[in-house]
Amino acid sequence: MLIAQLSDVHVGGTRYHAELLRTAIAEVNDANPDLVVVAGDLTDDGYPDQYALAIQELGPIACDQVVYVPGNHDARNVGYVRFEQTFGSRDSQLRLSHGDLETELVAVDSSKPDVNEGEIGREHYGWIAEGFSEPADLRVFVCHHHLMPVPGTGRERNQVLDAGDVLALLRHCEVDLVLSGHRHVPWVWPVAGMLLVHSGTVSTMRTRGFPDPAYNLIRVDAEQIAVELRVPGGRSQSLGAYPHRWPVGLSGRQADPFLEVQHGPWLAND
Ligand SMILES: [Fe+2]
Ligand SMILES: [Fe+2]
Repeated sequence: MLIAQLSDVHVGGTRYHAELLRTAIAEVNDANPDLVVVAGDLTDDGYPDQYALAIQELGPIACDQVVYVPGNHDARNVGYVRFEQTFGSRDSQLRLSHGDLETELVAVDSSKPDVNEGEIGREHYGWIAEGFSEPADLRVFVCHHHLMPVPGTGRERNQVLDAGDVLALLRHCEVDLVLSGHRHVPWVWPVAGMLLVHSGTVSTMRTRGFPDPAYNLIRVDAEQIAVELRVPGGRSQSLGAYPHRWPVGLSGRQADPFLEVQHGPWLAND
């Protein structure tokens, strides 16, 4: 199974370059992925004309399964409403069958209006746990903001405010992959049985420690998960190949002293 991970498109921004996005989409279409995840910051300020241009520019993605979540930039100027009008629900769940690989995906809006900080929010925890409750060979969680600090991004800021609780929840749910963006630096953190995979910015020159625009191709089979960084129109490099199943003792899943997931009512779109 092949997943293409793009983020931080920033349509309408001063350092946005449409040709980078077009090149990346052409390369992604050539790779013929089973799933494309666009992990937020599709627009630069959430304005109506930026959303109209964003869906036009992202429209050529040829994959049948494309998952979008908003980023902090998309939520500006009441852009979260326009996100839903343009790309659909800010939170979504998806089940995919690929050969004998059953995949469960849960995508959550981690943005809050007009602030750069991220938060998943307690009201989502039950919904996330239910989304991962069925048997699956691969569990994928998507949100824009980072759950762990990413190197090469300067002073730490805007991390998910409830990152500790969310990491414990995702480990409890036996999530394999967490796909995020936001920091504009491609990176992989293997943490507690999960791979936290960040894409860089696909179509801007708002780069930081990693100097080029970038997106990721993630190949999953029964044995391993391999992450490849791609520079649109340029080089590629491996971000590592990791075991699909971690040794039980390394995940630490059984050592959790207190997590209790609340399965009560929830507000999926709060
Ligand atoms: Fe961004
Ligand atoms: Fe962001």
